[in-house]
Amino acid sequence: MRDEQRKYMEKDSKIYVAGHRGMVGSAIVRELQRQGYNNIITRTHKELDLCRQEAVEEFFRTERPEYVFLAAAKVGGIVANQNALADFMYDNMILEMNVIHSAWKNGCKKLEFLGSSCIYPRMAPQPMPESCLLTSELEKTNEAYALAKISGLKYCEFLNRQYGTDYISVMPTNLYGPNDNYHPEHSHVLPALIRRFHEAKESNAEVVTCWGDGSPLREFLYVDDLANLCVYLMNNYSGNETVNAGTGKEITIKALSELVAKIVGYKGRIEWDSSRPNGTPRKLLDVSKAKALGWTYKTELEEGIRLAYKDFLENPMRAER
Ligand SMILES: NC(=O)c1ccc[n+]([C@@H]2O[C@H](COP(=O)([O-])OP(=O)(O)OC[C@H]3O[C@@H](n4cnc5c(N)ncnc54)[C@H](OP(=O)(O)O)[C@@H]3O)[C@@H](O)[C@H]2O)c1
Repeated sequence: MRDEQRKYMEKDSKIYVAGHRGMVGSAIVRELQRQGYNNIITRTHKELDLCRQEAVEEFFRTERPEYVFLAAAKVGGIVANQNALADFMYDNMILEMNVIHSAWKNGCKKLEFLGSSCIYPRMAPQPMPESCLLTSELEKTNEAYALAKISGLKYCEFLNRQYGTDYISVMPTNLYGPNDNYHPEHSHVLPALIRRFHEAKESNAEVVTCWGDGSPLREFLYVDDLANLCVYLMNNYSGNETVNAGTGKEITIKALSELVAKIVGYKGRIEWDSSRPNGTPRKLLDVSKAKALGWTYKTELEEGIRLAYKDFLENPMRAER
């Protein structure tokens, strides 16, 4: 797209953030407010169930948002995904189709869809470039979620190709930060470690046992940095291919556990149960495209975990979610 055709959000543009009470959606709202955008509209899940087609159509017909950040989704860790394959596929597929289709039908100028690095192929080259999407088999444990997400991403591309829209997507690595989910079964690795070490400290536990041998390498991005990229892309990127969102840096699960234990103040031992699965040995995004577009992350992991732990302590209800 040529520069003169590009759409820039005005400070009073009507912007709908779907999923604004979630970790990503709330970070996008914070970032938009920080940058002075003053016409943000939101609906809670209770007010508007995005899986209900008629309600979604009615919402878009009435509100006609100019820009949409689609950060609502049914998300969960491996256990939740495996136990509810059908629900993960149905809810995500229908939610995405409802929102993207209604946005397009009602003249939305630009929409940004949130993908996830877990939808890249199981054996993707490392670091994973954007071009590796759909090049080989998916990871079986979250196949349902991945298929739904890929459909959303592709629907944006197909609308662009058939109707000339300007709908884009972003592909974040593992995220963490304020508003994360600390549920014992439904949470991702970093919030799960924060909770476990915090509880171990509180109960003076001598040992915390972690799964696997600690060798897998993972990448983590602080959610406020992702939100900054999402707003940046809305104003500075057009294209059918997604944009990876990460730091390009990796850490072993062992080093991560030690770092979380240090920040939380847990003084006991950490043991490794190698009879438990390790998961994929390495998962790292190739972030050269975002860099070439002029964006890079700001928050280093240690600082980010300190901020996340502070948020966890200040909002004890988080642990109950
Ligand atoms: N968290 C990560 O590490 C990560 C990594 C990569 C990509 N992402 C992507 O980022 C996006 C947001 O993830 P997140 O971590 O922010 O998840 P989250 O904290 O669970 O937030 C998701 C939000 O969507 C809302 N929602 C779900 N179903 C809905 C429905 N039918 N109608 C209306 N609202 C609904 C939820 O509301 P309720 O809670 O009220 O249901 C919640 O506010 C997802 O697309 C995810 O794939 C996340």
